[in-house]
Amino acid sequence: MSVFTEETRERAREIIARYPADRSRSALLPLLHLVQSEEGYVSPSGVEFCAEVLGLNKAQVGAVATFYTMYKRKPTGDYLVSVCTNTMCNVLGGQEVYDTLAEHLGVGHDETTADGKITLEHAECLAACDYGPVMTVNYDFFDNVDPQGALGVVEELRAGGRPMPTRGARLCTLKEMAVQLAGFADERDGAVADGGPGEPTLRGLRLAEQHGISVPGFDPNTPIRSKAEADKAAAEAKAKAEAAKPAPAPEPAKPAAATGSTAPDVKAPDDKSPQVRTAETRQPDAGTAVADAPGTKVPTDSTAPAPRDAQAAEAAGVAANPPAGDGKPAGDEAGAQQRNLKEAEAGAGANGAGPAVASETGVQK
Ligand code: FES
Repeated sequence: MSVFTEETRERAREIIARYPADRSRSALLPLLHLVQSEEGYVSPSGVEFCAEVLGLNKAQVGAVATFYTMYKRKPTGDYLVSVCTNTMCNVLGGQEVYDTLAEHLGVGHDETTADGKITLEHAECLAACDYGPVMTVNYDFFDNVDPQGALGVVEELRAGGRPMPTRGARLCTLKEMAVQLAGFADERDGAVADGGPGEPTLRGLRLAEQHGISVPGFDPNTPIRSKAEADKAAAEAKAKAEAAKPAPAPEPAKPAAATGSTAPDVKAPDDKSPQVRTAETRQPDAGTAVADAPGTKVPTDSTAPAPRDAQAAEAAGVAANPPAGDGKPAGDEAGAQQRNLKEAEAGAGANGAGPAVASETGVQK
């Protein structure tokens, strides 16, 4: 039986629905975070799950999962401690922080303590050079750390505490963080409202203010709204905009064809695809044949080539893309996702084990 529950499948469908129907493979990155939120890493089952719901093959999913360091390929601790050992942090003591933690925890890079609490890794630049040396715990920042401070953080974590990061949201486990990275809001009370920007971050703003070039009325301490607050504000803004809409003007009478009207012509809407419009803008005279080298044979008639619709061309390419590897289509295919879900359901039912996956409306056994 799949380790992924009907709730996971429902979330997978929600993620896929965020993307256009013929671009469902774009959902792969959040789906990998979703399966990581279940098992703590991207297991072979997780790869299979993503391939199944997206109509991809496992090699395609594996290629993406192994490219990004945020997807872990083996069981990971509750807390991923990443110490920046890149240039800026290194000259400020980052390597000493990493070495101290490695010796104290008895683990090396990408290894997990025996109690399953801490996975240690050295990281490349964590984009917080102005706070170096920095380390993150499940991607939340601890700034200007020294070896003793870093030891204090990991010991508190091992004792069951959740030390406050220097900036950003409050700590959660790696699985909880993976849920957020899959695009689901952290509903903990005040989870996104902790901490404000630090002075190094505001340095540019302060300089702009000094030189009179800051944005009028900008308040760097504007709190980050929770999802509920943001949804409420968006609904209120929408209602306000609807109320402010002027009543539709009556249709102007159309001039008769032969009245000799001097009203300007109305341009017909351009129904070309954005790709075609971009190509035409870049090469407005692409249809004009010009010899570019002595002896080059080029067509000399002035017939403009038929415009190529980029989307139609891509669809044709996908259709010509044969199944690969385990028989799943190599490219996106309309309906593949639904078909694979149904096939998996039927296969499990035929084995007498009951459906391992549920249909859109069914319940998992
Ligand atoms: S070098 Fe460490 S955050 Fe950039």
